[in-house]
Amino acid sequence: MNDLTRGAALAPEQASAGMDAFWMPFTANRQFKAAPRLLARAEGMHYYTPEGRQVLDAQAGLWCVNAGHCRKPIVDAIAQAAASLDFAPTFQMGHPMAFELAERLVALAGKPFDHVFFCNSGSEAVDSALKIALAWHRLRGEGQRTRLIGRERGYHGVGFGGISVGGIVGNRKMFGPLLPGVDHLPATFNLKEQAFSRGQPQWGAHLADELERIIALHDASTIAAVIVEPVAGSAGVLVPPVGYLERLREITSKHGILLIFDEVITGFGRIGKPFGWQRFGVIPDLVTTAKGINSGTVPLGAVFAREGIYDAFMQGPQGAIELAHGYTYSAHPLACAAALATLDVYRDEGLLTRAAELETCWEDALHSLKDVRNVIDIRNIGLMGAVELAPRPGAPGARAYEAHVKAFFEEDLLVRYTGDIVALSPPLIVSREQIDRIAAGLRSVLERID
Ligand SMILES: Cc1ncc(COP(=O)(O)O)c(C=O)c1O
Repeated sequence: MNDLTRGAALAPEQASAGMDAFWMPFTANRQFKAAPRLLARAEGMHYYTPEGRQVLDAQAGLWCVNAGHCRKPIVDAIAQAAASLDFAPTFQMGHPMAFELAERLVALAGKPFDHVFFCNSGSEAVDSALKIALAWHRLRGEGQRTRLIGRERGYHGVGFGGISVGGIVGNRKMFGPLLPGVDHLPATFNLKEQAFSRGQPQWGAHLADELERIIALHDASTIAAVIVEPVAGSAGVLVPPVGYLERLREITSKHGILLIFDEVITGFGRIGKPFGWQRFGVIPDLVTTAKGINSGTVPLGAVFAREGIYDAFMQGPQGAIELAHGYTYSAHPLACAAALATLDVYRDEGLLTRAAELETCWEDALHSLKDVRNVIDIRNIGLMGAVELAPRPGAPGARAYEAHVKAFFEEDLLVRYTGDIVALSPPLIVSREQIDRIAAGLRSVLERID
């Protein structure tokens, strides 16, 4: 135990000793450091605190540990890669695992996806996809298609591309004018019309028609791509209305606009199929992924391209670099080894469809909380869920934050919160008993919050 891990057991004023230097991401640093919540190790469905308390992980780390924690085949594969090929460049060089992984991924996705571009995170996947979309139009002689359309409440990571098309005001307002030429669809969520929907809400497909309005304003010939999460995750599990994604596909196809699905959360089994587009039966042109690709073990992201997109780049002299884009760690050997082992675990344990098997159990467990005080909505799809609380007057976000803290310290349960929403996404190995325990723990917490 070092000073930092000991910190969890110390009084708040002592706890921050040795914690100051880490400028924590997306964290209320001072509040956290005054009363730290530390995780020291993990196994299967659980984290363990430095004092050894076992905490049930109801958020798969950060929507990513789909195979469960510290799975031996994945750990072994990473260790072996670290010992045999610590790093290899993929600029004008290659290593076998990168090619093998790309083949495995396109086989998993199936037609019409035939190529994969690697990066290291969801944010990078989004920036890569936006750049591929712009360059693709240009290569086809439509370089005037530069506009990008995102959606209110969308989360696409934190790169300038991602926050520009993203629609979470807190992530945008501090950082200047962002990318030019970006417009936004309205969010699909409407509490009055959709409260307590199970799975896809019936109301809201017409919101996709807003795209026609945006196109009429700018003209289709100026628009490169539309990017949406099939299910918005970080904004609090906003499930697409029945027919909405189909309509977006129809409109984008009609106008020659690329459709990008950001599947950083919905990819790799989260909603009952390997990819979200498969669940909804709507085929986009580019798909961004990360997180579950190797169960969150080593940073890795990937953009899947529909057939024809890669081919459009394969022109000009043989020796010309076709896409001037990439990262030092694109297809890092440790990340690839982890992904290959993770895909084996997913296949051998049927994890990429397990969310579909558990969906009814999950849905019933979450919706059993409907009568709990302050609960104003419950939403779910696959193994994603959200319980939305009425904001405390004058203190928005306080209730869900308290739920998160109480769940961790008093119920040994890790749940995520965003605004006044408790968001849930357990590892795909979760048992039915653990689902019941998540719901019971949350009920007990919420009943103790004013
Ligand atoms: C849909 C979506 N896109 C992009 C990202 C950004 O991923 P990262 O944090 O790996 O950059 C996230 C992260 O939660 C996400 O949910």
